[in-house]
Amino acid sequence: MDFELTEEQLMMKQAARDFAERELLPDVIERDAEARFPVRQVKMLAELGFFGISVDPQYGGSGMDALSYVLALEEIAKIDSATAVILAVHNSLVAYGIETYGNEDQKQKFLPELASGNKIGAFLLSEPEAGSDATSQKTTAEDKGDYYLLNGTKNWITSADNAGIYLVIAQTDPDKKHKGINAFIVDRHSEGISLGPHEEKMGMRSSDTHSVMFTDVKVPKENRIGEDGFGFKFAMKLLDGGRIGIAAQAIGIAGGAFDRAVQYSKERKAFGTEIANHQAVAFKLADMAVKLENGRNLVYKCATLKDQKKDFSTLSAMAKQYCADSAMEITTEAVQIHGGYGYVKEYHVERLMREAKVTQIYEGTSEIQKIVISRSLLKD
Ligand code: CAA
Repeated sequence: MDFELTEEQLMMKQAARDFAERELLPDVIERDAEARFPVRQVKMLAELGFFGISVDPQYGGSGMDALSYVLALEEIAKIDSATAVILAVHNSLVAYGIETYGNEDQKQKFLPELASGNKIGAFLLSEPEAGSDATSQKTTAEDKGDYYLLNGTKNWITSADNAGIYLVIAQTDPDKKHKGINAFIVDRHSEGISLGPHEEKMGMRSSDTHSVMFTDVKVPKENRIGEDGFGFKFAMKLLDGGRIGIAAQAIGIAGGAFDRAVQYSKERKAFGTEIANHQAVAFKLADMAVKLENGRNLVYKCATLKDQKKDFSTLSAMAKQYCADSAMEITTEAVQIHGGYGYVKEYHVERLMREAKVTQIYEGTSEIQKIVISRSLLKD
């Protein structure tokens, strides 16, 4: 597959890199330490069109292809992965979900606000007892005629507080199991919605993560996505695409740590020479580079298949698993190469290592990706 980037794709990559270096890098360590949401940067990203990156211009988006999108995410994640995940959930799951599976009224009503970044999107699937086992939804949406009544709790919700639009997965007919699940577009400020405390996370600390409680929340009937019972398939289809975004994020984190490790090993001297001249370090760098290259190829191939409207379901699980696991290995080695300096905040690699960890967990653990991959291999 040919990954020679077009002029437009290169411009996107450069714009994201410039933004990350200019606007995210200067206070990334403080925002992480204080778990402070990047309010100013999100506003700027919205003005630059990053919140509607792939949305059709007729709904106010930038209409860029999936490859441009992953290039942007990768560049942002190199510096500040917490900001990348806000964009990833918003674009890959919420905006894409409404644009691809919503009806025309829903698109006209919700996409312009999402694409302009006026409202951030959040995706509410996980529950206290339904993480990997996503069919075991306990949140209910009871059909009350012209509206649904939503009750239940969602967990680990990215952008829960700062979002304006929630995409909520809920059970409408428990007897039908996953065929009785639906997806709803919900105004975050609806009466009956309350949030748990900000989660004190290991990494991605400046993105806000909360549990969300629904108590008799009225959702207009017209906010249901697709036919009755489409919700589980909808969520799975979104996660197929979402996993490309998280794989891009993981490879961005890994690339950020790798660049810093290369730079450091060319400057730091030990035993009379730069440490890059010791094979103990040079071989680590070689191993890291191979993993990065493989990961990038998987991500770019997935994005290209998505742009070509070809099936990418299994490949995106492969990309997510490989890139997340590699990001953990690469960032750990980057800390090792930095020695004691790697263990303090100033050198960034300890933060990148903490950020890498969650890419092995959210939007499906590495083990879930292996379930998806092996099932596709073994099916008749
Ligand atoms: N596309 C379309 N349909 C799909 C599908 C896909 N990729 N995957 C499954 N389905 C359909 C199946 O065909 C089946 O439909 P039928 O009954 O009509 O045949 C139905 O869904 C149920 O499928 P399974 O029997 O395979 O379901 P399962 O429960 O055994 O396994 C799973 C599915 C892959 C393990 C799934 O539960 C899963 O992906 N779990 C992980 C959930 C996850 O990623 N959570 C992350 C939350 S979001 C997040 O993290 C966002 C954030 O803030 C960062």
